[in-house]
Amino acid sequence: MIYKIENVPKLEGKIAIGGSKNAALSIVVGAILCKDIVILKNIPDITDIHDLIEILNYIHCRVTYQNFTLTIDARQIEYKDLRIQQIKKLRASYYFMGAFLSLFEKVEIYKPGGCNFGKRPIDIHLNGFEKMGAIINETENDVCMTCPNHLKSQQITLSFPSVGATINLILASILIKKTTVLRNVATEPEIVDFVQFLKAMGANIDGEGTKTIIIRKIKQLHGCSYTIMPDRIECGTYLIYGAALAKKLTLTNIISRQVRSLLSIFIEMGVDIDIKQDQITIYETKHLKPVKIVTGPFPSFPTDLQQIICPLLLKADGQSMIIDTIYSKRISHIEELKKLNANVKIVDNCMLISKSNDLKGNIVTCNDLRGGAGMLLACLMAKGKSYLMNTQWIERGYQNIIHNLKLLGASIERCDENEIL
Ligand code: UD1
Repeated sequence: MIYKIENVPKLEGKIAIGGSKNAALSIVVGAILCKDIVILKNIPDITDIHDLIEILNYIHCRVTYQNFTLTIDARQIEYKDLRIQQIKKLRASYYFMGAFLSLFEKVEIYKPGGCNFGKRPIDIHLNGFEKMGAIINETENDVCMTCPNHLKSQQITLSFPSVGATINLILASILIKKTTVLRNVATEPEIVDFVQFLKAMGANIDGEGTKTIIIRKIKQLHGCSYTIMPDRIECGTYLIYGAALAKKLTLTNIISRQVRSLLSIFIEMGVDIDIKQDQITIYETKHLKPVKIVTGPFPSFPTDLQQIICPLLLKADGQSMIIDTIYSKRISHIEELKKLNANVKIVDNCMLISKSNDLKGNIVTCNDLRGGAGMLLACLMAKGKSYLMNTQWIERGYQNIIHNLKLLGASIERCDENEIL
């Protein structure tokens, strides 16, 4: 999929942020643990969700999706070998490991797909499952697990607060008839939302949002209706777009404290911004100061926003620096930015970004979801016409992005290859 993008005068308007992609992905898989009907509201209309629905259909869950509401009935769920191509399409498919261990005490599954930015191991997930009694047979492509002596509650300390491993180990523990304690867990808002959802289904869990989570036994889960939290990364993305391109941009349906690390950077840069609890307005700023950004686990600056803020830093009066301590190889946007005449380079593990007044349109590529969102911003900033290739990456995680940007006044269309040649 290709976008044709032209540099336009300042963007202006209002956008309502949708439901959180990463929270929704974990919650949708969590819903299959319940032998009752679960109604999930504010589910974003993105390809990752549609890919997940295909997997749910495959394991005989009955699913309907309409008006951002997903209804899941897992009463007829069946054990299936999950070495199917759909698993390779997205990262969050690894949640079927924890969910299947919980439901069936076994799983045969391909390793997950998703964005490719260097190694993305799942050893912390597997070490946790092993401690809980799983016998693991792992190859380069797949993982098979059985629990000959049943899944057991444990006290597990994660070697790093991995978001995926935290959720996967909660999924595996939820139906065990004894108390499980997970330490050094991730504290991201998506974990809190996931646990809140499990509680709405009757789970007995404490400590979400802190470094220790305790999962106590319950009789069974029951159906519920739950509304997914707003997407803090989508919110951060549009805030960055606004800081770079808007005369005035208002974002609604957000939780400002969840983007605090980005707002601190904006304040350091001198961005003109008006912050309310559930709404932020950003105004055009003439002079931006350079900054140093180091990504880290929540509440530090999220790795998911570093590629997107990179083009904004091209406007700052001096050299900025980004260090991604979570995914140091999340750098594929840098070579693409150079094609637009951006003054960017990599020295050791640092991305160095200098003022670039003369960005020029070109043919450039998305190599992953957030890198793609960054390249889209850079194309909007560049003078003249740009063609952005492989934009299916962007549509994995941003609903209605073309529609939203057009409402703000951007010139952006889908086009086909013939138009470029
Ligand atoms: C999730 C998000 C992703 C986000 C990332 C960090 C989903 C579907 N994806 O990814 O958008 O960028 O959190 O906020 O929610 N690690 C290991 N071994 C493991 C697991 C992780 O070494 O078993 C390392 C990773 O390589 C990385 C760090 O831990 O360096 C964080 O990874 P993790 O929090 O697990 O990210 P994901 O769950 O993959």
